[in-house]
Amino acid sequence: MLTCRIHAKEDLRIEPAEDPQIGPGQVLIRLGAGGICGSDLHMYEGRTAAEPGIVFGHENMGIVQEVGPGVVSIHQGDRVVMPFNVACGFCKNCLAGNTAFCLTVNPGFAGGAYGYVAMGPYRGGQAEYLRVPFADFNCLKLPPGQEHEDDFVLLADIFPTGYHGCELAEVSVGESVAVYGAGPVGLMAAYSALLRGAKKVFVVDRVPERLAKAGEIGAVPIDFSAADPVEQIKEQTGGEGTDKGVDAVGYQAKTGSGEGEEPAMVLNSLVETVRATGMIGVPGLYVPSDPGGVNEAAKHGMLLVEVGRFFEKGQRMGMGQANVKRYNMKLRDMIIEGRATPSFVVSHDLPLGQAPDAYNKFDKRIDGYTKVILKPAA
Ligand SMILES: NC(=O)c1ccc[n+]([C@@H]2O[C@H](COP(=O)([O-])OP(=O)(O)OC[C@H]3O[C@@H](n4cnc5c(N)ncnc54)[C@H](O)[C@@H]3O)[C@@H](O)[C@H]2O)c1
Ligand SMILES: [Zn+2]
Ligand SMILES: [Zn+2]
Repeated sequence: MLTCRIHAKEDLRIEPAEDPQIGPGQVLIRLGAGGICGSDLHMYEGRTAAEPGIVFGHENMGIVQEVGPGVVSIHQGDRVVMPFNVACGFCKNCLAGNTAFCLTVNPGFAGGAYGYVAMGPYRGGQAEYLRVPFADFNCLKLPPGQEHEDDFVLLADIFPTGYHGCELAEVSVGESVAVYGAGPVGLMAAYSALLRGAKKVFVVDRVPERLAKAGEIGAVPIDFSAADPVEQIKEQTGGEGTDKGVDAVGYQAKTGSGEGEEPAMVLNSLVETVRATGMIGVPGLYVPSDPGGVNEAAKHGMLLVEVGRFFEKGQRMGMGQANVKRYNMKLRDMIIEGRATPSFVVSHDLPLGQAPDAYNKFDKRIDGYTKVILKPAA
């Protein structure tokens, strides 16, 4: 089969590889659609040391081609989407719904994922076929046919991840929310906040096409390259700040000029933006080690976060990978019932062969590349 492999920093190539073989409890998927994620960019840019030859792709959807022994609920021909987290379904964390921290699938590290450095031996789906372990748990069945292709594929990661940001911040009806980052995850967090009944949602970024998408769904775009976003939001909330906040940027936060990086910038902005006793959800990624870090402390995952202000304001914060399995069925049903259409975020549907060029443009955040869906069968 064909795969998209990384050879070195910013060097992706379309190359043949052996088809995956399946065993007990596993299924083989013929991939129909898969997203390129902001998380893939950390490896693409060489910020997290992906081993050469790794196939990316943790946002996977397709048709079941072959079913291994012992799989009971998934059948050949089913259309399915897989959470980016690989999980067992029976360990202590999975049973509590914390499937991003499965204790079985990646020994020595809580949590597994497809095509991701340090997340276990699970080849990614930027390819023609994918092996799915613990298939009864990891496949979410979709209605047959082609309908909602670009909505359902977002159930693998960014829709549940944006929703998770709101869950961590306990966003509820009638609240105001500040979302930092209008990338795919930030836009999904804003969309989820609105689905959960927020009265007003601000979305902070500096990329015009992304801010425009935030405006399209009824959020208030805030351009942080124009003026301090904290001040802009405070002005529009009677000086109080918002009830809740979501960080959908992570440690690669850019300064207002867009030139330098300031890894604690978004966390500190949120502490100032959110009112006293408000809550902050952080799906944006922070890492324990970052060779590209701006200083020695940042290289070891240590950031200058304003803990004193955080204490003073009595806020709470939740972080981490999203437990996709916890939300994907409910969010799928919102799509089926016509109550959610997350595909507004998709800017490009492209064949797998165009993946190297798409990575380059998505990484530079140019030409309106907001969210790319690769179609291996196209
Ligand atoms: N927790 C999870 O399970 C999970 C899942 C998927 C992605 N992520 C992480 O979420 C983050 C966002 O992912 P994405 O796909 O949307 O990535 P992205 O890189 O496309 O989006 C990030 C956006 O943040 C903006 N930005 C940069 N600095 C900023 C600042 N100071 N203030 C406001 N906005 C700023 C950028 O312009 C960009 O539009 C990444 O860190 C990614 O690794 C986490
Ligand atoms: Zn992702
Ligand atoms: Zn588990």
